Amino acid sequence: MEDLRLAYLELLKQTIIDLNRCGSKEYRPIHYGRKLNLTVKPLLNVFSKMEHKRLVVCEEVVNTLENRMNGRDWPQYADSMIGYKRLTNIQDCVTDVLHNNIEGDLIETGVWRGGAVIFMRAILKAYNCTDRIVWAADSYEGLPQPNAHKYFADKDDQHHTFNELKISLETVKENFRKYDLLDEQVRFLKGWFKDTLPVAPIKKLAVLRLDGDMYESTMDALTNLYPKVSKGGYIIIDDWGAVEGCKLAVLDYRKQNNITAEIVPIDLDGIYWKKL
Ligand SMILES: C[S@@+](CC[C@H](N)C(=O)[O-])C[C@H]1O[C@@H](n2cnc3c(N)ncnc32)[C@H](O)[C@@H]1O
Repeated sequence: MEDLRLAYLELLKQTIIDLNRCGSKEYRPIHYGRKLNLTVKPLLNVFSKMEHKRLVVCEEVVNTLENRMNGRDWPQYADSMIGYKRLTNIQDCVTDVLHNNIEGDLIETGVWRGGAVIFMRAILKAYNCTDRIVWAADSYEGLPQPNAHKYFADKDDQHHTFNELKISLETVKENFRKYDLLDEQVRFLKGWFKDTLPVAPIKKLAVLRLDGDMYESTMDALTNLYPKVSKGGYIIIDDWGAVEGCKLAVLDYRKQNNITAEIVPIDLDGIYWKKL
């Protein structure tokens, strides 16, 4: 039975990150300002007009195995951008809390196309766990504009400008359906974290996974959800190595709350710790 579980989860991991397509070309929309460093207004206007006609300028990129293992690209087709190693970390944390009866639900704050939460639901299914919920918290319309007054670290954050990060709730539900994993053990918290997380009807958490990129998004998730994590549960931070504001929020929160649990690296960007 365990062999079958592991085979199912392995197949899912590879599918969720679209590993089979490694080595092939993808065409990704260019974020004009950043990639081309364009300041030429007329050209930007042309691109913008093209978008209204559903024509998008793309760059050709080749998926490398290394990027997909380490979640270092924004894939065109995959249901998650976090890569193989961070999916395996989810598997390790969730199976650990199941085996050790650590109480609580599972949540990801920042789900994008839903791959990581789909995988969480799959692990519960593989282990016949019917009394835990997978919570999927997201605006389902991308990242918020920086609130530099309150969170100085987000001052220059550009994530809110990326259309690629705006994935609708209906698309995420459809992605769950593709894997036959949309059921009553999955709940969606739609809206900005600052509004949804303080009132979320979550009693306890066994795994808290943060993937909201910005200082504000990371801090909102920690402030509202960290106290609900059971002892022996896990806190996973996706963007520690990738977004300076995220790392700063984690360091600030740990300092303010005297959290000294050892930080364990997952890959080049992700980290986690176990709540003591
Ligand atoms: C990098 S993506 C998450 C990637 C995803 N975990 C995966 O498996 O591929 C960041 C997501 O966080 C969401 N997000 C970030 N900050 C948010 C906030 N303050 N409130 C609501 N959603 C937020 C965005 O809408 C986006 O879907």
